[in-house]
Amino acid sequence: MIEIEAKKTGAVLVQGGGIAGVQASLDLANSGFKVYLVEKEPSIGGMMARLDKTFPTGDCATCIGSPKYVECARNRNIEILTLSELVGLTGEPGNFKASIQRTARHVDEEKCNGCGECIQNCPVKYEIFPESEEKPRIHLEEEAFVQVNDIIGRYRGVKGNLMPVLKEINTRFNYLPENILRYVSIELNIPLSLIYRIATFYNAFSLIPRGRHIVNVCSGTTCYVRGSEKFLNWLKDNLEFEDGSTTKDMRFTLETVRCLGCCSMAPVISVDGEIYGNLKRKEIMEVLEQYE
Ligand code: FES
Repeated sequence: MIEIEAKKTGAVLVQGGGIAGVQASLDLANSGFKVYLVEKEPSIGGMMARLDKTFPTGDCATCIGSPKYVECARNRNIEILTLSELVGLTGEPGNFKASIQRTARHVDEEKCNGCGECIQNCPVKYEIFPESEEKPRIHLEEEAFVQVNDIIGRYRGVKGNLMPVLKEINTRFNYLPENILRYVSIELNIPLSLIYRIATFYNAFSLIPRGRHIVNVCSGTTCYVRGSEKFLNWLKDNLEFEDGSTTKDMRFTLETVRCLGCCSMAPVISVDGEIYGNLKRKEIMEVLEQYE
């Protein structure tokens, strides 16, 4: 149990290290207050740190939150008390005395550099599908079964294997079929929730079937100014789309990207990663005809 006594010179206690508490701490610290940020979980970030995207803009939660968490940890005016709870508060405005109860972390915070080695060497292991329990049966077509097992076999037991496995499956099938993700979860003993978190985070992955060729129309500022919007509308008018993005014959899937990194060639499109720049509208069909 530690006790914090605030003098009237201005120390502030912020309870809760979620995004609101972190932002409040930063604002207060930058106004000159000494801030004690009290969080009962082992780390700050709260619910926001667990989210994938945020409503309504769909922005990446980690990209918004991480700089603030780092700034918070580095700010000399902020003292972060994790695994801590406010258990008592006495006094009056300007001079409160707070009692904080801290739970042991069992890790030397001074020495920990977050390398994650302790997770690898932890003697306590939780099996998602224990050997003793019968694993759920997933139906896969024979060809898919062989291909997926080939991919899994090459990465089984390899540290950080989920990303390359998902990448290869996405490349082979052009999207990530649900039954295959369930199969990967069982075979690699990785929670399905984690697989979905990664599969929905990266634009390169798709959970719905895509065409054999991916057409990316750049909608970055330079391309937009040089008419990429017209390209997009023209493609939508001239290709027969089933659901707004994939053609009926599953030949093309149309997507927009922010910048393809070749602004000098704007307007730019890419087909299966191949870049085509300085295009005129009538030249697009000639490009697409190369892809059967
Ligand atoms: S804005 Fe289109 S390539 Fe950069």
